[in-house]
Amino acid sequence: MKKGVLLLIMLFISALIFADYLMAPEPPSRTKKAGVSFLHALHGDSLGLSCEMCHAGSMVGQRAYMPSKQDCMDCHRLPLTESEGIVALDSSLKKAPDYPWSVKSRLPAHVVFHHGVHAKANVSCEVCHSNESDWDRGVPPSVSMNECLACHRGEKGFPPAATDCASCHR
Ligand code: HEC
Ligand code: HEC
Ligand code: HEC
Ligand code: HEC
Ligand code: HEC
Repeated sequence: MKKGVLLLIMLFISALIFADYLMAPEPPSRTKKAGVSFLHALHGDSLGLSCEMCHAGSMVGQRAYMPSKQDCMDCHRLPLTESEGIVALDSSLKKAPDYPWSVKSRLPAHVVFHHGVHAKANVSCEVCHSNESDWDRGVPPSVSMNECLACHRGEKGFPPAATDCASCHR
């Protein structure tokens, strides 16, 4: 009888230690995924947020950038509704590093690309990044050199742009 109780207590303690191990805060890192769930479909469509709210450089900068967790907490500091999803979000944001998301799309380092130049020429995000369901699955922009060139040659309905090697390669 006593042995059984002792065993239960030991099981309980090891469960606590294991839980503690699972909950240990991650060191800040831009590349590690923190498991904070996010859906563009929800925030874009129903809430009408603009892309630059979270991707601050996308209209003017070279890089679009990813949001910090502070950008989320501006709205989610107080639970907006009491749903399971919001409770889970609260605790995952608490544990997350300051920049919880890593960038999945990367051109080779020898290619020059500037978001602001394209926004100024009215090339919308969707032309290169497909749509919300792709972003939510983390599909990177499908731009090959041929696609850049096709548009720059004026074949996609946009004004022609540079096609010489040095404009896009360093
Ligand atoms: C409320 C914040 C927010 C808004 C508004 C937002 N995004 Fe995002 N976006 C994110 C987050 C967070 C991720 C990373 C998601 C992940 O990795 O799980 C992301 C990832 C992306 C990615 C993938 C980048 C990569 O290479 O990894 C693209 C592309 C993107 N967003 C485009 C857009 C576009 C276009 C809009 C406007 C229509 C938009 N986003 C609006 C927060 C936002
Ligand atoms: C401009 C305000 C705003 C910003 C910024 C924002 N959200 Fe939201 N978010 C909302 C609203 C409003 C809802 C829907 C209402 C609700 O469920 O409370 C929502 C819903 C959610 C949900 C769904 C919760 C559920 O019920 O399942 C998640 C997850 C979420 N947001 C994550 C994020 C993350 C991660 C970021 C930062 C990249 C972010 N949000 C930035 C306003 C915002
Ligand atoms: C002409 C094509 C094109 C357009 C238009 C475009 N992007 Fe991109 N985007 C790219 C390419 C290419 C990359 C990868 C850049 C790299 O690796 O240097 C990228 C990367 C990103 C990333 C990853 C983070 C980063 O800074 O690299 C996000 C987020 C993003 N774009 C969002 C957007 C949003 C939001 C818009 C609209 C305002 C947009 N993009 C318009 C081609 C485009
Ligand atoms: C859908 C059309 C489209 C796509 C796709 C596209 N571009 Fe462009 N690009 C433009 C337009 C339009 C301009 C602006 C031309 C101007 O302002 O005179 C431009 C300008 C540029 C410039 C500045 C030099 C110049 O000619 O003004 C560079 C560099 C560039 N793009 C690189 C790229 C790269 C790299 C890719 C592929 C990853 C790409 N672009 C994909 C339409 C596009
Ligand atoms: C409008 C922009 C643009 C122009 C102009 C351009 N490139 Fe590219 N190039 C790219 C992009 C984006 C990539 C990376 C994606 C890919 O491999 O398709 C690339 C990739 C390459 C690669 C492959 C390198 C690798 O990592 O595998 C070579 C080689 C190359 N370019 C040579 C050239 C030469 C030579 C010219 C001139 C005749 C040229 N490029 C003009 C955008 C451009």
